[in-house]
Amino acid sequence: MNMIVTGGAGFIGSNFINYWLKRHKDDSIVNIDMLTYASNPDFINKEQYGDRYTLIRTDICDRELIMQHAKGVDTIINFAAESHVDNSINNPEQFLHSNYMGVFSLLEAVKKYDIRYHQISTDEVYGSLPLNSATKFDENTKYNPRNPYSATKAAADFLVNSYINTYGIRATISNCSNNYGPHQHEEKLIPKTIRHALSGENIPVYGRGNQIRDWIYVEDHCSAVESIIEKGRIGETYLVSSRNELENLQVVKSILSYMNKSEDMIQFVKDRPGHDEHYAIDPSKIERETGWKPKHDFEEGLKKTIEYYLGEK
Ligand SMILES: NC(=O)c1ccc[n+]([C@@H]2O[C@H](COP(=O)([O-])OP(=O)(O)OC[C@H]3O[C@@H](n4cnc5c(N)ncnc54)[C@H](O)[C@@H]3O)[C@@H](O)[C@H]2O)c1
Repeated sequence: MNMIVTGGAGFIGSNFINYWLKRHKDDSIVNIDMLTYASNPDFINKEQYGDRYTLIRTDICDRELIMQHAKGVDTIINFAAESHVDNSINNPEQFLHSNYMGVFSLLEAVKKYDIRYHQISTDEVYGSLPLNSATKFDENTKYNPRNPYSATKAAADFLVNSYINTYGIRATISNCSNNYGPHQHEEKLIPKTIRHALSGENIPVYGRGNQIRDWIYVEDHCSAVESIIEKGRIGETYLVSSRNELENLQVVKSILSYMNKSEDMIQFVKDRPGHDEHYAIDPSKIERETGWKPKHDFEEGLKKTIEYYLGEK
């Protein structure tokens, strides 16, 4: 298979390219990434894959270039996005550009060349559950994005579904919960906590730290996308999580405990405006239809993650 993976120099995309090329020895991947601050092309060791891997530095909104590269490709998987909610609150325009217009540009190429397409989306499109709720998001939950990041991701999902319905493109969508693991940018909770614990700086925690997120180890997200590409039904959406809901404060405390650091390092800071309280995902559909199961529990995934950042220092 000849694939385009977009955003492959970022956190999840780079883990996906390494995951895929190690397991699918006859496949080749062109990584289209504009190399924003969140990326690092060295996350992928080019030498290891020879001519099976190429990096092209460009914006996915550049329709002419996307058309050129898409010709002859079997599959496009779109990881490229602006991904940090705080940045979307301060500067939403770039999010509209990359997360919405970028998807439009890819879909036009998909339509023209009849390419299989997969859109990487997020559980944040469903909005927020009350803290004490036992409800979980599933594929029938109504979209209710509550910040500019999740609104652009939701808009992109609607656009993908409109292309499936109107033009009959062969596409799927996955909405995954919060990822953690190697290669994540320091702006996000887990790498920030590890880095600050290492350098002895205070660890900022929003509000009272009682927001609940559903954490999945990045490699399990990669295997979920592989399952959808191989066994998912065209036109369908799949929710992905490893059923691991934790309060942010609990996550920070687990990291400090593993690193033998004091909880006195925690500093509660003013909460993010409109901060979603609680995400929870029911992954029954992907499990039932593709047989996918996550392989890492939180303790094991967190240990691997901390060791990665310790090794980097
Ligand atoms: N991180 C999570 O917990 C999480 C959870 C669910 C879904 N997602 C989704 O997964 C995808 C990847 O997230 P991530 O955490 O790896 O993000 P990231 O910020 O680490 O990486 C994004 C990558 O996309 C590239 N990019 C951004 N805009 C681009 C553009 N216009 N053209 C080309 N390249 C561009 C960046 O250079 C970067 O390499 C995103 O679509 C995000 O919405 C992330």
